[in-house]
Amino acid sequence: MGDTQMVEAGAKRLTRREIPGPRSAELLEISNSYEPPCMADQVPVVWDHGEGVWVWDVDGNEFLDFTSGVLVTNLGHSHPHHVEAIQNQASRLMNCYSFPTPERVTLSKRLTDLMPDNIDQSFLLTTGAEATEAAIRIAKRFTGKHEILSFYGGFHGRTYGPMSVAGSMKTKREFGPQLPGGILAPFPYFYRDFYNSETEEECAEKCIENLDRIVESTSSGDLGAVIIEPYQGGSGFIFPPEGWLKRLENWAHDRDLIFILDEVQSSFGRTGKLFALEWDDLRPNMVCLGKGIGSGMPASALAGESQIFQCMGTGEMSSTCGGNPMASAASHAVLDVMEEDGLPENALKVGEYMMGRFEELQKKHVCLGDVRGRGLVIGLEFVEDRESKTPAADLTSRVLLKAGELGLLLGKVGMYGNVVRIAPPLVVTEEEAGIGIDIIDAALKELS
Ligand SMILES: Cc1ncc(COP(=O)(O)O)c(C=O)c1O
Repeated sequence: MGDTQMVEAGAKRLTRREIPGPRSAELLEISNSYEPPCMADQVPVVWDHGEGVWVWDVDGNEFLDFTSGVLVTNLGHSHPHHVEAIQNQASRLMNCYSFPTPERVTLSKRLTDLMPDNIDQSFLLTTGAEATEAAIRIAKRFTGKHEILSFYGGFHGRTYGPMSVAGSMKTKREFGPQLPGGILAPFPYFYRDFYNSETEEECAEKCIENLDRIVESTSSGDLGAVIIEPYQGGSGFIFPPEGWLKRLENWAHDRDLIFILDEVQSSFGRTGKLFALEWDDLRPNMVCLGKGIGSGMPASALAGESQIFQCMGTGEMSSTCGGNPMASAASHAVLDVMEEDGLPENALKVGEYMMGRFEELQKKHVCLGDVRGRGLVIGLEFVEDRESKTPAADLTSRVLLKAGELGLLLGKVGMYGNVVRIAPPLVVTEEEAGIGIDIIDAALKELS
């Protein structure tokens, strides 16, 4: 494969490149020696800089980015308004722990105002796991109950609380006993339904109607809260059937359970609305936010009802960098761009175009077992054959590598590591999206 070979991709021709390039290879060698391997599961490209949906590696190769890091850089790389806000803030004030700043208090208000009316406060933190951890702790304190219901395949972060409510061994393997009180129930993942339902409606029905039975058989009578993602991210971009989340919320509220929605990944325009909860008109008691809230600056938040937050006494919960002025200024800039440039609307429009194109690809490539998504979060599930649906994890890794060689950066997720995640920054145009899809098509042709 010569590096002068070109691939025809939409309106743009991308040079086929060897990855890793020489400078990337040097740095990867340092990484392999000095960084633990637990963090590396990527195509071997060392990023240098980015602009919009494009990224350049340290060897000068250009790539189209369909990862947004891990659904973080929703504004695109180095958006000028974001950069300016961060630079201005850096020259004024970077951290002051929990002393209020104009940036922090106005951001808390701005976020709260965007939430459903029952939510009237926001608590600014640094990482997604910190937000889910805080939600779990606050729910336990408020209800006085220690059990939390979560779902097969759920992912809520890697610290102990979130890990203990995860619905996948991937997060907790060989870490010993988990926090007591985790109760797990099947999530409506129709493609691989736990109940082997014939229809999506039946799958949705069973996943609700069996909840009481699951609780009756596994709870010690101390269930206080439910935590769920609007769509399962880490397990493969799995969306529940329409209306199912509202049914779950009603089920929880009818039983006086705190309903926690983990929007760490799904928020800030990703699904075509600012928050995914808008699709089903949800009214969770607490909403965890992260990733896109800073579009690259470490930031997260827990929005919730003040009557619940009040169970925490003054000074009982805080975070060294939570709500720091840098992150808060960055999040204000994120909201400015979301509103002014209509990024959620663009995510919806380009996402529809992409879904249509991927459904066409699915007709051509039998290894593409399932295509699903909403807005700019699309999962391509690869299988050995459509009948058995055996997960094709190796093929998925080869697709990532081949796409990388052709100039497209992809990530993978899934319980079985067989789902390509399509999640470009929300500023992507249809033309750019088309280039990436042409590359995936070319990669699949070469691999078959
Ligand atoms: C739904 C969800 N919750 C929580 C987290 C944890 O976020 P962080 O990695 O910022 O701790 C993630 C991260 O992927 C996530 O997708």
